Amino acid sequence: MKHWTSIEDLRLDARRKVPRMFYEYAMSGSYNEETLRANRADLEKIKLRQRVLVDVSGRDPSTTVLGERAALPLMLAPIGLLGMQHGNGEILACRAAQAAGIPFTLSTMSVCSIEDVAAAVDKPFWFQLYVMRDRGFVRSLVERATAAQCSALVLTVDLQVLGQRHRDIKNGLSVPPKIRFNNAIDVATKPRWAWSVAFAKRRTFGNLAGHVKGMESVKSLAGWTNEQFDPSLSWKDVDWIRSIWPGKLILKGILDPEDARAGVKTGADAIVVSNHGGRQLDGAPSSISMLPSIADAVGSETEVWLDGGIRSGQDLMRALALGARACMIGRPFVYGLGAGGQAGVAKAIDIFKKELDVTMALTGVQRIDQIGRQNLAFGVPDWR
Ligand SMILES: Cc1cc2nc3c(=O)[nH]c(=O)nc-3n(C[C@H](O)[C@H](O)[C@H](O)COP(=O)(O)O)c2cc1C
Repeated sequence: MKHWTSIEDLRLDARRKVPRMFYEYAMSGSYNEETLRANRADLEKIKLRQRVLVDVSGRDPSTTVLGERAALPLMLAPIGLLGMQHGNGEILACRAAQAAGIPFTLSTMSVCSIEDVAAAVDKPFWFQLYVMRDRGFVRSLVERATAAQCSALVLTVDLQVLGQRHRDIKNGLSVPPKIRFNNAIDVATKPRWAWSVAFAKRRTFGNLAGHVKGMESVKSLAGWTNEQFDPSLSWKDVDWIRSIWPGKLILKGILDPEDARAGVKTGADAIVVSNHGGRQLDGAPSSISMLPSIADAVGSETEVWLDGGIRSGQDLMRALALGARACMIGRPFVYGLGAGGQAGVAKAIDIFKKELDVTMALTGVQRIDQIGRQNLAFGVPDWR
């Protein structure tokens, strides 16, 4: 659509089209949202170095992640409940990512199941795993991901317990959504959303319903998560996951150089520097501010990726200059999905692509592997 020229446009449109309960589920951070805000504020402190009169006529934004070609140094992060932003949201987002030539990650907490998505797309996608107390169920999830030919497993390590998001409690976030007096008008004014969800494959947690008791209707996501997720999760479990998963393994949610080193020792193929988009430990530093020390600690042994606050192609350049090989995005594509389904996700990816292309041109860069700290105007900012 013509009027979407930035990720902010997609956000504003999603706010109009998606019921408040789910829009606020996506945009919120935990507690006072200090870390959520820091993710953005710290990115904006990084100034890019403008260069002129460099021949940039042969620019190429493609790269490789985990040894595979990617059209951009960009991946769609795992997002719970995508199917509540738009009916069949997981399938639509996966199709948009695959058409654009970048990876899509399906969350454990998705609405469409692993099998639903596998049957609806032509190429392999990635699966994100949360480790629950019931290890038999965790093993069965890994086996389902293997059977669906998922090409990488993203193990999320920063959610042993759930950070509180005030708005989810106030909105009574439930799955499937319950129409109550106070949200009936909201839903009634979102007919396109209601239509897409009414005719979607599912309206509850597709990977869990029928496998985990009580998943057909979850009244309190926070309460359920705190009951099921395993607070005893430790590095030993990473070794166990490694032993039952034959493919590429990614550790997501690392925010400290010491943990990054421990992650490398597990033999992980990549680590994602992340604070879960400011949704877990409030008061933790922004992910971008921890990237340089983590990239230095890891060296070239394992790929280092980043997420949190990436909203433009300029942000991609900033993260790459500080040592990320690629970035994941969460909310930008969630807003695209809410604003326009598959076309909205495609638009979000296209916005990143065009902005990165212009940013490469104006910083005098032709290829992704040329990007480094020399592309920053004032070096690495002092974050403290
Ligand atoms: C609505 C929402 C749901 C999320 N669900 C998951 C999830 O199921 N699994 C996971 O590992 N991370 C989840 N995350 C975290 C994202 O994968 C990612 O780390 C984060 O969104 C990156 O920050 P950004 O939204 O600023 O790009 C979620 C984030 C959001 C905003």
